[in-house]
Amino acid sequence: MDVDTAFDDKRFREVLGHLPTGVVVITAITPEGKPSGMVVGSFTSVSLDPPLVAFLPARTSSSFASLRKAHSFCVNILSAKQEPICRQFAVSGGDKFAGVNWSPAPSGAPVIDGVVAWIDCEFERIDEAGDHYIVLGRVTHLATGVPTIPLLFFQGGYGGFATTSLVMGASADMLHSLSIADRARAEIEALAGDVGFECYAQVPKGDQFVVIASVFPPLDAVPPWRIGMTFPVVPPWGEVFMAWAPRDEQIAWMNRIRTPADDRQRILDEMATIRSTGWSMTVWRSMADVDQISGIIAEHGHTPAMERQVAQLMRSTTSVAEVRSQEDVGRLDGHPTGSIASISAPVIGPDGELALMVNIHNIPVTTPKPEVQRCIQRLLEATARIAERLA
Ligand SMILES: Cc1cc2nc3c(=O)[nH]c(=O)nc-3n(C[C@H](O)[C@H](O)[C@H](O)COP(=O)(O)O)c2cc1C
Repeated sequence: MDVDTAFDDKRFREVLGHLPTGVVVITAITPEGKPSGMVVGSFTSVSLDPPLVAFLPARTSSSFASLRKAHSFCVNILSAKQEPICRQFAVSGGDKFAGVNWSPAPSGAPVIDGVVAWIDCEFERIDEAGDHYIVLGRVTHLATGVPTIPLLFFQGGYGGFATTSLVMGASADMLHSLSIADRARAEIEALAGDVGFECYAQVPKGDQFVVIASVFPPLDAVPPWRIGMTFPVVPPWGEVFMAWAPRDEQIAWMNRIRTPADDRQRILDEMATIRSTGWSMTVWRSMADVDQISGIIAEHGHTPAMERQVAQLMRSTTSVAEVRSQEDVGRLDGHPTGSIASISAPVIGPDGELALMVNIHNIPVTTPKPEVQRCIQRLLEATARIAERLA
């Protein structure tokens, strides 16, 4: 480890650049009535009561010299899509607002279109700190904007925030998953072609499962985007992933996802049922929620707030893991749902662990029950054959 006691400006910046920061544009209307702005990575919240925030402009900054003439300023938190705006506001001089759409915050300071949040402030005090100022702002108004990921600055480059749990990293286990998908693909295509519904395969990855193969009949149609999508392992869908885990892992999982005490025994029983029957079925209460969530994810990408929303939505589907015979399938008639979300069956790998899950998706609940029963039989045949291929 290189420990520096003597360091120059470059080294100071380089080491400090290891801390990622958000990127904001501080805006104000100058006494001359012109909008002014500068990019700042040193913005932070300071105090809740009173509500204070701070940022640190360089004493040499000409932009700050004009901003401080105003009474108020607005902090614009940029989205990951606003890197061009960031670059435009980071240059010295010129018309930084050229081509930028904005509307006034209550103070009059510009709120730039498309920001993820904005915070309207009055200048509280300005202190000197070395070659910078510490500017304290008292928050007067604030709001969230576009519900998407923010722009980040790290080691001199721009990027976006990604939750580790929602991203399939380029790692050895990803390659392993892809090789499983490769070997399972022919069977999944045959299954989808035969049953006429969308089929896909998922692999467990920590507390998430990741879609690694997806077939959407007719086979020559352009499929909806599924590959790489990840979902939290929460009941009822998550039960099928945990059904083959040892009991202590099941308990640890329920603790991690904070399963209410009232639900625990039912979930354990359902997992025991899934394990003994070899498959499980979940039904949607409403497809409208699902369509809405998929739409938001497609438009704005995954955020931690979105991840929580997806988990909550998934919990509101109903597990009918106990449906496992011709007569039981008949009970679906009384079920208040538009669609069977999924019939799932596991493929246990040569090591005895769950290798992947194969699903038939979105079967209309009006589908004749013998047909649903046939889907289940076909699914179990497919998973048995995939298991042989993996052996
Ligand atoms: C990501 C990023 C973060 C920045 N953070 C700060 C900051 O915290 N304080 C600062 O004075 N300048 C910061 N700057 C530099 C200013 O945005 C801008 O380049 C400078 O103010 C332009 O010079 P001017 O103020 O003389 O117009 C940052 C620039 C970038 C690109």
